[in-house]
Amino acid sequence: MSLPHPDSLCHRCRALRHVESGRGGQFLMCTATDEKYPQQPVTACPEFVDAQKVWPAPERNRDSILAVLVRVLPPVGVALEVASGSGQHAVHFARSLPDLEWLPSDVDPDGRASVRAWTAVERISNVRLPIALDVTDPDAWPDHADAIFCANMVHIAPWACCLGLLDGAARLLSPGQPLVTYGPYRFSGRFTAESNARFDLSLKERDPSWGVRDVDDIAREAKTRGLVLEETIEMPANNHTLVWRRI
Ligand SMILES: C[S@@+](CC[C@H](N)C(=O)[O-])C[C@H]1O[C@@H](n2cnc3c(N)ncnc32)[C@H](O)[C@@H]1O
Ligand code: SF4
Repeated sequence: MSLPHPDSLCHRCRALRHVESGRGGQFLMCTATDEKYPQQPVTACPEFVDAQKVWPAPERNRDSILAVLVRVLPPVGVALEVASGSGQHAVHFARSLPDLEWLPSDVDPDGRASVRAWTAVERISNVRLPIALDVTDPDAWPDHADAIFCANMVHIAPWACCLGLLDGAARLLSPGQPLVTYGPYRFSGRFTAESNARFDLSLKERDPSWGVRDVDDIAREAKTRGLVLEETIEMPANNHTLVWRRI
């Protein structure tokens, strides 16, 4: 990542917007102060609001997921991460897979700001600026990816988001390229643990359109889009990593 003024506080601030110039350069635009384009680098600022989220789950699961990614992702190319959330996964995976370009994304601007903050703090050069991607919007997807990774989205979003993810993967990936998903799943109607069944109920209480998805349902929809389930890997805490391949 070639961030202009990497030490600037702005990179870690929720008020920052990156603006691309026509020639591919970047402007750092502030949405909180009168100075729209603050003189860089900013080392102190009364309006600074730290964008960096620190979530316990990605801290806990990142190494077990990485062990799968090392094996199933292509050694080089662009890995699109759908629903990056805090950005903890993005920096960890990009640091450990230095020949890949990691392209984070999220529908939520606070998530994207956090990804940016993590990238700036950790100074990871192979993480691109996060893109605004709503999986259900075909126009929001990038043109190209060599692999797609998505953790913990399909159950905390409507079913249409799972279908949007499969549609996007089918469009972007070439034969042989992987879509890797991670999270809690049901298998042929069964939960793998009582805690996942309780989690499913709690998700549905929060939003009736959410819920732990059945791999059979995902696989059926995936197949119609030219994606096959190649591997189902048991992970700690009753989660699974699913490796799908474009055929
Ligand atoms: C539980 S978080 C998971 C974040 C991260 N992948 C992780 O495992 O820590 C779920 C993420 O899904 C994102 N999300 C929800 N609906 C989405 C959509 N329609 N398109 C893209 N991302 C979405 C949310 O913004 C949030 O960052
Ligand atoms: S509020 Fe301050 S730190 Fe944040 S983007 Fe604006 S100038 Fe930078």
